[in-house]
Amino acid sequence: MPTADKANILLVDDEPENLSALRVLLDGADRHLLLAHDADAALRCASEHDLALILLDVCMPGTDGFESAQMLRRNERSRLAPIIFLATSADDLASISRGYEVGAVDYLVKPLLPEVLRSKVSVFVDLHRKNTELRHEVAVRRSAERQVRESEARLHALTSHFITMREKERTAIAREIHDELGQVLTVLKMDIAWLARHPDDARLRVKTDAMSRLIDDTIRSVRKISAGLRPEVLDDMGLVSAIAWQTTEFQKRTGVRCRSALPPETEVFDKDLSNTLFRIFQEILTNVARHAHATRLDVELRQAGDRLVLKVADNGVGIVVQEANAPTTLGLLGMHERALRLGGTVAIDGEPGAGTRVRVSIPIPGSQREHGRESRSERAEGLP
Ligand SMILES: Nc1ncnc2c1ncn2[C@@H]1O[C@H](COP(=O)(O)OP(=O)(O)OP(=O)(O)O)[C@@H](O)[C@H]1O
Ligand SMILES: [Mg+2]
Repeated sequence: MPTADKANILLVDDEPENLSALRVLLDGADRHLLLAHDADAALRCASEHDLALILLDVCMPGTDGFESAQMLRRNERSRLAPIIFLATSADDLASISRGYEVGAVDYLVKPLLPEVLRSKVSVFVDLHRKNTELRHEVAVRRSAERQVRESEARLHALTSHFITMREKERTAIAREIHDELGQVLTVLKMDIAWLARHPDDARLRVKTDAMSRLIDDTIRSVRKISAGLRPEVLDDMGLVSAIAWQTTEFQKRTGVRCRSALPPETEVFDKDLSNTLFRIFQEILTNVARHAHATRLDVELRQAGDRLVLKVADNGVGIVVQEANAPTTLGLLGMHERALRLGGTVAIDGEPGAGTRVRVSIPIPGSQREHGRESRSERAEGLP
């Protein structure tokens, strides 16, 4: 057995022959016996080792067993070590109760019965072994928990990184498409218009008209693609206008009647916060279009204390909570991760046949309790 796993037993007696007898009696492979002939030596041992048990002679010259026990109790390392007092038959009942007062777990009277002493000591050695195993188990579990927490944190950081990268790439691609393709198409359109104004051949006119229409369609497609990647309105006019615009587009495209309650368009919010809320809003709308079979949609955006809160409610089939929590639901996962990145939350709630409600709440950067918990009134209010 490794020394570190052995139970340390401190034997304190002023008589050297008593100590020797105890050592012979209690020797064993699973324990390590430490001998002290007075209180000072006992305290030194107790400061250097974790003790599984202390056997303490009551009657010692100078500092007696009770005073020694008090000293050992005051010592941080031996504060909780169990003590068995070894008393002579002359010690009376009063001294026995004093022993328990200073923290004894047991009291044995000399002459000691070897079998009794051995079995009592064995109980504490066994207890020590179990404690050691338990401590080891706790340490292993703690370490596993720490690893899970660390890997979770790494995963969040990675997701956050991907979200930022994706947003940057979309912005860059949208700009490229808009600037490069948009301009080339416009120039082409002007050339065709010029050609159309100088028709030497009637067939040329027909051809240029067709080309012109095609270019118009392509310009519209380019705008649509680049707006889908990154709506200009978000950069130019801000979050409120972008949400209003996206809601109108959604109504036009799906026929779902939309009602929105938004702050004044002059309200300006942090860029990262605006991006995040807008992307989450887009995912909510996509889900409504794909899954809800709704006919109505209510959108509300408002500042509540130090947080910006977006509530979207549809009157569709209602999300099933298990579906919302399934590991494969990447859209919802993305919404949660986006919000989490800014210290926010997403709450989704649905009732069969009575629609789905999504509530997104994100701290406004720079406000006093940024990234803190939601205010009481906010929490009490619950979902939309
Ligand atoms: N507004 C809604 N009404 C009804 N069910 C919904 C609504 N929004 C989401 N759901 C349900 O929750 C599930 C998970 O949505 P989530 O956005 O994560 O995945 P998805 O839309 O199926 O796929 P994607 O990963 O492409 O977004 C959906 O498959 C759907 O069953
Ligand atoms: Mg989805």
